[in-house]
Amino acid sequence: GLDIGKLLSTTGVTTLDPGFVNTASCTSEITFIDGDEGILRYRGYPIEQLAEKSTFIEVAYLLIYGELPTAEELESFTSKLTRRMLLDERMRELFRCFPRGAHPMGVLAAGVMALGAFNRDYLDPHNPEHVEEASFRLLGSMPTLAAYAYKSSVGEPFLYPQTGLGYVENYLRLSFGYPTEDYEIKPEVVRAFETLFILHADHEQNASTSTVRLVGSADANIYASVSSGVNALSGPLHGGANQAVLEMLRKISSYGMDIKEFVAKVKDKESGVKLMGFGHRVYKNYDPRAKIIKGHADTLLRQSGKNNHLLEMALELEDTALHDDYFISRKLYPNVDFYTGLIYEAMGFPAQHFTALFALGRLPGWIAQWREEHDNPKRKIGRPRQIYTGPARRDYLPLAER
Ligand code: ACO
Repeated sequence: GLDIGKLLSTTGVTTLDPGFVNTASCTSEITFIDGDEGILRYRGYPIEQLAEKSTFIEVAYLLIYGELPTAEELESFTSKLTRRMLLDERMRELFRCFPRGAHPMGVLAAGVMALGAFNRDYLDPHNPEHVEEASFRLLGSMPTLAAYAYKSSVGEPFLYPQTGLGYVENYLRLSFGYPTEDYEIKPEVVRAFETLFILHADHEQNASTSTVRLVGSADANIYASVSSGVNALSGPLHGGANQAVLEMLRKISSYGMDIKEFVAKVKDKESGVKLMGFGHRVYKNYDPRAKIIKGHADTLLRQSGKNNHLLEMALELEDTALHDDYFISRKLYPNVDFYTGLIYEAMGFPAQHFTALFALGRLPGWIAQWREEHDNPKRKIGRPRQIYTGPARRDYLPLAER
């Protein structure tokens, strides 16, 4: 029952914790991480079991409602999402406006805001019916938004979703299909995406989720909060790392750089070069998601015969780093982003689109966290304090005297 926040505020004590390394902003029942042991669980279920046995929609339900759905609940939930995959016709015009080559994350963030504008009758964060409708709308429409962001960036025509297709199948067809051709959906590709989306679905109070909660704490609606989450995720230190990893591997390859030479450059702090896809605020052990993804990358890329060169490089980089004192002493291991890009690339996505795939996967977590925050009657607006270090009081000088 002790409210530490209240206690500190009444005693006038302010704690300084840059980057919130040690400060919890909330309690949560959604996701458990043990960073030292490399453990991740959603609502108590180990990530390894969910990645192998579950589907993305089932995991979305679990994160939002707290329990795995019954067959009936899953069917009803799935059909609610499928019915909301189709966007308002005028939203296609919005996606046509963006210039070729625009980054899909910017377009996606704008798309989420537009979705809110087109569903303006369901924006009240205090009305459970509105929150439920907005959750279905966001989850159902996100594959279409992400696919249109991609189609818009490559200048290809948009397709309509098909009601007979599953969530991931629809997303792949909307991304890679053409109006005049049938798109072949490969079950092994669908399963790989199910797994990748499940692994990305939530990760407690990371930068984008904290952003969603902070924006939500001001009673901003769920669309505004999620759009802010998309923007936070776009940064290369967060979700944008998946794009940065592939670009790093390509650069090493095109310069013909030796892996050991590159690692030496990373260790030299003056160089400003980081080993992208390595390190994590919470994991001081192998990221359990990266472990699963590495296995998939290995199998899928070896099967397809694609991009083995970059995979070999990534494996060598990992091996070199994990035997190097710099990385060992700092407990730096591959994170979720280290191997994903190789899979996404093999499946045909350009590097620029990788982070939008992360956003699609993370959406259920953002929604679940936003709802958990709003279900808490004691919630407060997020408002960190600061320690002022600027000038002491001084008097204004007229322009002529400066
Ligand atoms: N390459 C080289 N050195 C690194 C790396 C890296 N990828 N990551 C951390 N370090 C070093 C830091 O320079 C620091 O060294 P120091 O003690 O000599 O100053 C030490 O390890 C600790 O790192 P911090 O930056 O203090 O760790 P923090 O928890 O603040 O940052 C972060 C975590 C942002 C993920 C960092 O490891 C990083 O920049 N990694 C590369 C980007 C990346 O892959 N991001 C994706 C993260 S996962 C996700 O968001 C989905």
